[in-house]
Amino acid sequence: MPRQTDRIHDGRDRMTVADREGSGPLTTVLAEDHRRLDALLHSASSAADHIDQAVYDQFRAGLLRHIGMEEKLLLPAVQRWRGGTPLPIAAKLRLDHSALATLLMPAPTAQILATIRQILSDHNRLEEGQDGLYAICDRLPAKEMESLLAALRAAPAVRVMPHSDSPAVMKTLEGALGRAGYCLEPIPMHKEDEP
Ligand SMILES: [Fe+2]
Ligand SMILES: [Fe+2]
Repeated sequence: MPRQTDRIHDGRDRMTVADREGSGPLTTVLAEDHRRLDALLHSASSAADHIDQAVYDQFRAGLLRHIGMEEKLLLPAVQRWRGGTPLPIAAKLRLDHSALATLLMPAPTAQILATIRQILSDHNRLEEGQDGLYAICDRLPAKEMESLLAALRAAPAVRVMPHSDSPAVMKTLEGALGRAGYCLEPIPMHKEDEP
């Protein structure tokens, strides 16, 4: 029987709503979006010798939309509910979002994809945890919750820009990763390179 994390990273067997029995509606919708994005990233890089750019562009557009929903809808709704005080984890989530958005700018490499996977693994746990962002949103009053769900459903698609590997982009990337507590992951070894 596969572990849950195996299934998350294996796009062929995505976690279903039934797996998240007991979760509130916001957790269900947004955790399912995490699984969809994990599957797209997995699929874009499933070939050993190339990255499927069309699938990677779907991943980029989906991740940017997802980040936009959290930054523009979820975090402000929770802050309003808390009388204007942001969640303690809001600053860290925003730094992670900035690092992820910047990682989507250069052309994808094995190192960039490994770094995205590492950040998403940590970040999604923060959001989906028992006292994470999504569980907190699921405790919002019913009226606030309904308007939040409607706004999430109406969130517009995002168009992705062409990649840029300019020195300015790479410097911005280094800064955004550092502020979020990350650096570029070591290049993953291929099986045949292993000792
Ligand atoms: Fe997020
Ligand atoms: Fe998220």
